[in-house]
This record gives sequence, C-alpha cells and structure tokens, in this order.
Amino acid sequence: MNASEKYIEDHSTRQTEALEWIGKQTHIRTNHARMLTGAVQGRFLKMLAEAVSPKNILEIGTFTGYSSVCLAMALPENGHLDTLEVNDELEDLILEGFRRAGLEKKISLIVGDARKSLERLRQEILHDKTRPEYDLVYIDANKREYPEYYRLVFDIVKKGGYIMADNVLWDGKVYQDPLPADRQTAGITAFNDMVAADPRTESVIIPVRDGLNFIRKIR
Ligand SMILES: C[S@@+](CC[C@H](N)C(=O)[O-])C[C@H]1O[C@@H](n2cnc3c(N)ncnc32)[C@H](O)[C@@H]1O
Repeated sequence: MNASEKYIEDHSTRQTEALEWIGKQTHIRTNHARMLTGAVQGRFLKMLAEAVSPKNILEIGTFTGYSSVCLAMALPENGHLDTLEVNDELEDLILEGFRRAGLEKKISLIVGDARKSLERLRQEILHDKTRPEYDLVYIDANKREYPEYYRLVFDIVKKGGYIMADNVLWDGKVYQDPLPADRQTAGITAFNDMVAADPRTESVIIPVRDGLNFIRKIR
C-alpha cells in the first residue's frame, strides 16, 4: 500500500469484522488476492449502493464475496442479491463469509458461467412478470466478456436502475496509444465505447482505484 492509499484507508470508515475475515482468508486460501475489492472501494460500493436504494441487486463475479457483502449491506430487510461465480472451489469460503456477515438469507450464490446464468435469469425475469428486475447490477468478472454481460443484463435492469462496472481504466491501458493487443483491454475498451454511445444511458467513469463506470438506464 502506498502513502496515499494508506492515508485514505486511515481516514475512511473501517471495514467490518466479517469483511476483515474475508480479506484475510482470501490472502491465505487463494492465489489471486489482488482481485479483492479493498476496504476503501468496498466502503464506496456500499455507500453508492445505499444512495441508489436498491431492493434487488445482481453481481457478476463473486470471487470470495467481499464486494457481495459490501453491496448486500445496503439492502433493506426484504432486499436480495444474486451473485454469479464460475469457480466452484470458492463456494465454501464464500458461503462462510456471507454467514459471518449475517447476510446468508439475503444473498444467493449462483455457481456457473455467468453468461449461461444470465441467459437463464433473463428468461425467468422477462417471462415471469412476478419476478422483479434488478435495481442495481455490479459487473466485475471476466474483462473480455464485459460487452456480452452488458448486452445480456440491460433488459433485466429496471428503467431508472443502475449498472456499475469495475476496472474500466484497466491500469491505464484503455487510453494507451497504441492500445495493447490483449483481449482484456479489447473487452474493456469495447464496453466503455458501447456505454458512451448508448442513448439509453447516462454514465460517468469514476476514477476510484481501477475505475468504476457508473451507468444509469434512463430509457
Ligand atoms: C475480479 S474477481 C471479482 C472480485 C469480487 N467482485 C470482489 O470485489 O471481491 C472476478 C471473478 O469473476 C469470476 N469469473 C470470471 N469469468 C467468469 C464467468 N464467465 N462467469 C462467472 N464468473 C466468472 C472469476 O472466477 C473471479 O472470481
């Protein structure tokens, strides 16, 4: 952690015990702790979600459940969060974290490829009018697939609802000239271009950590 990150963390509200546990376990039990949403971005996600007042949230890319817990902390008593993760080896750790946060009844973990899960959720929501659309969607899975997630999710977000996508600055690669040739950068730049050109949305990229695209579905 550099000096500015330390100062910001020291002067922001501390993470809860359950989040601290998830963070520690992520470092001990996985090799990908860099993917973890940290205490500062986690607090920001929670507060941003609270401002949106969602009743139904969808998260694409659970990893160890840190951001799921932050987002679910913003839900009302009868609110719900669905979270999609392809790596079934993380299931025990994820569910234990939800339990420690006291949020196990409010969060459903859906294990499998997000694109397949999204196809299924689309069928359910678009054809069963009693099943509510999402008020807030958080995209944080495979960077190559961001455009596909956006296309799949758009119709199941409520009009006036929000989509947030993480890592949209991709360590500055999205504005390098020439653009790096990797598929992750291509996925994120295609996503950001698609959102910026979409007349159905209002959007702003917030330069928190690796960039958060904050999108409102206006029609
Ligand atoms: C950056 S991590 C998510 C971090 C998490 N949101 C957090 O803040 O703690 C990305 C996750 O997406 C998952 N993932 C990647 N491709 C996926 C796919 N097609 N379907 C579902 N999950 C996927 C990865 O296994 C990984 O756990």
